[in-house]
Amino acid sequence: MKHRHVIDLEDLTFAQLQQVIDLAGKIKADPAKYSHVCDGKILATLFYEPSTRTQMSFQTAMLRLGGKTIGFDNPMNSSVAKGESLKDTITVVSGYADIIAMRNPVEGAAKAASLYSSVPVINAGDGGHLHPTQTLTDIVTLHNEKGRLNHLKIGLCGDLKNGRTVHSLIKTMSHFEGNSFVLISTPELTVPDYIKEIMINSGCEFTESQNLKESISDLDVLYMTRIQQERFSSKEEYEAQKGVYILDAEKMALAKEDMIVLHPLPRVDEITVEVDDDPRACYFKQAVYGMYGRMALIILLLEDSDYFFHDNKKKVIADDVTCPNERCVTHREAYLPKSFIKQGSHLFCDYCDHAVEMYSKD
Ligand code: CP
Repeated sequence: MKHRHVIDLEDLTFAQLQQVIDLAGKIKADPAKYSHVCDGKILATLFYEPSTRTQMSFQTAMLRLGGKTIGFDNPMNSSVAKGESLKDTITVVSGYADIIAMRNPVEGAAKAASLYSSVPVINAGDGGHLHPTQTLTDIVTLHNEKGRLNHLKIGLCGDLKNGRTVHSLIKTMSHFEGNSFVLISTPELTVPDYIKEIMINSGCEFTESQNLKESISDLDVLYMTRIQQERFSSKEEYEAQKGVYILDAEKMALAKEDMIVLHPLPRVDEITVEVDDDPRACYFKQAVYGMYGRMALIILLLEDSDYFFHDNKKKVIADDVTCPNERCVTHREAYLPKSFIKQGSHLFCDYCDHAVEMYSKD
């Protein structure tokens, strides 16, 4: 099936990803050349969850391309507050706008939205699941700051369980030759099993560590993340995790001279302010690269008729099966088709990717 929705960066082929990176570079070099490319076009930003960078970089991306924006950043100021379903909101907004960027706290919400949209839907973050345009931001940054996307030793530190940016980045970078990962977290916040399976299946080496100081010295990239308070079920559980990993000047002194530090931001206390002045700290530059990456993506989705994606996954509708992930959109929006991806004898939720255990039907 052919479509133009960006739900997971895996929707793009390498060639398509390279097109975005290349175009982002051209726009950065000569922004005036692109300042009317989207004249007359409208971007809707539907943000059901707080955001600074993703929302504003999408909005500025469209404005810098000559287009306009509509949307909400607080669903309680929209008819969502009156109980409107995701399906109805998206059906209506896709009649107003040419492209939609949506952030939603519910896992799989972006995939669900894409089913009811007549225009491209870009996943701007769906709960703890994925954040593909952050990964786009990350790889545009790596391409520019490291000069390559392969043969990198990438340390990821912090909330690897709930950090959707971590999941998206591992999924994408595990496809590039020679990359390896050092997963630095407490035992409670390790990456989900399905992400480990992706690394194993792609032949990517990874190690797990609980100690940032011991792991930092041979990294090419350190990707710090915030402990995601909003994803914890109790304040006590969050309190037990916060402040465990703090990158400071002392630890930076142990790192390679050409290691770079990335962070999707916002930060809380996991990188001390003194690190900001270290030339290896790239997280503020990273936020700017994200705007150019999003400009490139918008142009390709709206203006390049050959820029579409193929979904060749084998799908089954199984009304008798329930996704075991309680945070999945299928538990909130009851009308959604019970769609699963079939891989061998295993089923994975089409919306949130969680494996369905003990499914034996052919
Ligand atoms: N990196 C990121 O998603 O930041 P915001 O939550 O501010 O959009």
